[in-house]
Amino acid sequence: MGVGTKIIVATDSWHGSVEWCKAFEGSLPDTLFFPWDDSGEPVGADYAIVWRPAPTLFVRETRLRAVFNLGAGIDSLVGLPELPADLPIVRLEDAGMAEQMVEYVVYGLLRASREFSAYEAQQRAGEWSGLPPVNRSHWPVGVMGLGVIGERVARAVVRLGYPVAGWARRAREIPGAQVYVGAEQLPAFLARTRVLVNLLPLTPETDSILNRENLERLMPQAYLINVARGQHLVEQDLLDLLASGRFAGALLDVFRSEPLPQSHPFWKHPAITVTPHISAITLREDAVNQIVNKIGKLKQGLPISGRVSREHGY
Ligand code: GLV
Repeated sequence: MGVGTKIIVATDSWHGSVEWCKAFEGSLPDTLFFPWDDSGEPVGADYAIVWRPAPTLFVRETRLRAVFNLGAGIDSLVGLPELPADLPIVRLEDAGMAEQMVEYVVYGLLRASREFSAYEAQQRAGEWSGLPPVNRSHWPVGVMGLGVIGERVARAVVRLGYPVAGWARRAREIPGAQVYVGAEQLPAFLARTRVLVNLLPLTPETDSILNRENLERLMPQAYLINVARGQHLVEQDLLDLLASGRFAGALLDVFRSEPLPQSHPFWKHPAITVTPHISAITLREDAVNQIVNKIGKLKQGLPISGRVSREHGY
């Protein structure tokens, strides 16, 4: 009996490809899953499921009908010259990431607004002294990027009672939040924001958008939470603004170079909290269910969500 569908699973390590392959095995009838092997033969796959795959995947597998990305960001994938221009790309939507992102952002927001770093310093000094209570109106939050994850984050912060605004390429409604749209409204969005949360996709338009000019537009004593991509931030500009006293601090999960190099000034900076790209990790079961569901729909000729627009780059 012939096999109906072949799917190649290619992540950034052989081990990862095998593990993911196991997770998918048996999830679709009449379908075989193959782990990517750098020195393997073409399998004639119909679909690829990938996370930072070897670029040769797209040279070897020439029958692909779609590629599924095991993450929300597809910037490293669309940057590959080997990727055929007309190959549909589907990215993960939420898949357990939104609630993790909500937790991470709320942690950063409370860390800043409730002055936990000041209390940590006080503890180290054996000092008992309460700071004035928080007035939430002094801590307007601005969420850049209102996709599935950004919207969930904005809604959660609205529920906490902080003033919230969002900034996106297209207009949309988020109850309780003011939405600013497009490059024209970016300065006004930044001017009313003290805690800036970056959840933008990385595209040529958003590369280095967190630069001195834009960061200086934020309210005084601003705080940055970057959970999108390191390339959004001009790292030296943040360091300069912290040194000048214009900026209060940052919680950073992503960096231009990952792992963050040992010599990087962020590691030891007293106003910067560093985490190793863990703000929202792809959950295997959720990702498998979502992708299997979408492949099932594609096979029946039904539309699916999460298709990447090559024109917009996300
Ligand atoms: C993680 O960085 C993702 O894009 O899902």
